[in-house]
Amino acid sequence: MSQVERMRLGVLISGSGTNLQAIIDASKDHRLEADVVVAISNQEAAYGLERARRAGVAAVWIDRTAYDTMSAYNRAILAVLQEHEVDLVIMAGYMRLLGSEVLDAYPNHVLNIHPSLLPSFAGANGIREAFEYGVRVTGVTVHLANERFDEGAIIAQRPVIVEPGDTLEMLEAKIHAVEHELYPQAIELFAQRKVSTDGTHIRIDEA
Ligand code: GRF
Repeated sequence: MSQVERMRLGVLISGSGTNLQAIIDASKDHRLEADVVVAISNQEAAYGLERARRAGVAAVWIDRTAYDTMSAYNRAILAVLQEHEVDLVIMAGYMRLLGSEVLDAYPNHVLNIHPSLLPSFAGANGIREAFEYGVRVTGVTVHLANERFDEGAIIAQRPVIVEPGDTLEMLEAKIHAVEHELYPQAIELFAQRKVSTDGTHIRIDEA
């Protein structure tokens, strides 16, 4: 049993939700001493919402078209996070920027995962662009989110070797497998209160 209070996680998704699933599974297996309490999607058809329902996790679609501005939309996201008493916000394939409405409410407590070694190959096609560039090593990054895509203090990174003969599909599979391991481990650093900040720098106590 963890000696600290279990963190409540809110996961933002747009798509298939394999990272959400990995986080739910790690929580159930006690590899991660935190609980996913709500999954929020900007896409009604995101399969991740179904994964959440099957795991007994609240699944909420927030329809962008129901809000006049991005600011109002982000306030709606914040309201759902607060309603579920979320401590840590996890972006897992959420394909939009998160606004200051949410970021300011969760200082240093919004995480994102990106399928490359940032700052290389930021953007929506990081795996393909690294593959087409011909890199021999790429990987996965978990970082704090800010108001720009794929920026913010790095919490964890893991390399993935591109072997001769690897196809794009093979590389994608290797990277996703690493994501599914690394994201729960990075979240566990927060769950164990091993991440702190002096206001400028992030300190990670991995001892
Ligand atoms: C992952 O590759 C993640 O790194 C990127 O979007 C993808 C989401 O996949 N930001 P899934 O929805 O978790 O399956």
